[in-house]
Amino acid sequence: MTDRSMDAVDPIARSPEIEGSMDAADRDDRSPGIDRPTHRSNRRPADIFDFVERYVDDYWLYGSGKVALRDVVAAMLPSQSDRAVCRRRRFGREEPSDRRWNVLLPAYVPDAVPEPLRELGVEPRYYVISPELKPSVADVRRRVDGDTIAIVTIDYFGFPQPARERVASVAREYDCYLVDDNAHATLSVSDGHLLGTRGDAGVTSLWKTFPVPNGAICYVRNEALRGRFEQSDCSGVRGTLTGADARFVFTRAIRRALDRRPGLSRRFASVEERFYGAGVAPPAARYEAAKRPCSKLTAVVCARTDPIAVRDRRRQTYRAWLDACARSTGVRPLFGDLPEGICPQCAPVEADRPGRVRNRLTAAGIDVHTWPRLPTLVRETPTYATAQYLADHVLALPVDRRVQPEQVASVGASL
Ligand SMILES: Cc1ncc(COP(=O)(O)O)c(C=O)c1O
Repeated sequence: MTDRSMDAVDPIARSPEIEGSMDAADRDDRSPGIDRPTHRSNRRPADIFDFVERYVDDYWLYGSGKVALRDVVAAMLPSQSDRAVCRRRRFGREEPSDRRWNVLLPAYVPDAVPEPLRELGVEPRYYVISPELKPSVADVRRRVDGDTIAIVTIDYFGFPQPARERVASVAREYDCYLVDDNAHATLSVSDGHLLGTRGDAGVTSLWKTFPVPNGAICYVRNEALRGRFEQSDCSGVRGTLTGADARFVFTRAIRRALDRRPGLSRRFASVEERFYGAGVAPPAARYEAAKRPCSKLTAVVCARTDPIAVRDRRRQTYRAWLDACARSTGVRPLFGDLPEGICPQCAPVEADRPGRVRNRLTAAGIDVHTWPRLPTLVRETPTYATAQYLADHVLALPVDRRVQPEQVASVGASL
């Protein structure tokens, strides 16, 4: 549960304790909002948790969306006795119990997202998506089978997945669960629904929208699933601030100070590399590193953040990028409209020459990257040519506080 008593803690003023072994007493494991009625008032939400509670009665905090996904899928796995019954029901006979379960994921997905499935011994099975980021429902149908326990859809970059209902109908037909992955944008609302809450279960990552070290929210909407859902020791909020929190605050402060000075910023990046290592760790190692509860700093920041101000600001910068794209022939926004309620994670654009745009924007002090690093199987299989193309050509233009709308207007010509 979100421990509101932490409101009294000043994350910066209090000296953080060095991160070390943590026992149960250090964590607040209570699940938030359970038995607390949703209060859909017109009053401006006071903070992030208040905002979320307008849409759901209960939710669970985690350190990472991937670990939340693991706990959710673990709850979906049939027990030995369920398996026998369900096999008899589906096939009129018992099947050997060592069948391998699978979960369907879109091919356009970061390489570490399938790791929790592998940990559970579940096969990640990738389905094809279109250049508009929609699942190919025909491909979903080709891959789904009697061993599929769930189908995941992604609300890319904070925009609702338009083909979700069609995928949901396949999930219903095959009697498997639907997971609404809204890792990208905690505050996006579409047709009155908070994204991430429209499946049997869903996740959203706090650190992708707010300046916090880690954190995710898990939603379990299906009643039966909720009864089986057991939170691992990576759920809840840490009881104390840690060395990792201090490192996050320190690094962020330096980065902000250097943001307008690209030369110095590059030098700081190389010092950072010397301390923390260069390159990106393999996906399994990143998943292991994510196995920790929600940081106390994350919870404190979220309990003091005005969600509407964050959303308005991101939307304003997003519109500035749309204007800049309209003046360019080399980049095209993936989402040319910004419907009401959407809180974009970034402004994703398809660039003909992504390297050139990236270099120009980096020189202007704007941090831009392609997204995502694909799983090896997707990267190497010709069937996933669209996901490969998107991973090489889609640039995530920032809309967070590090970039001002006026700055976007002035660099627009660089696109
Ligand atoms: C679509 C998607 N789902 C899930 C995740 C996992 O979220 P987290 O980093 O909080 O574990 C990510 C992370 O990049 C993501 O992009």
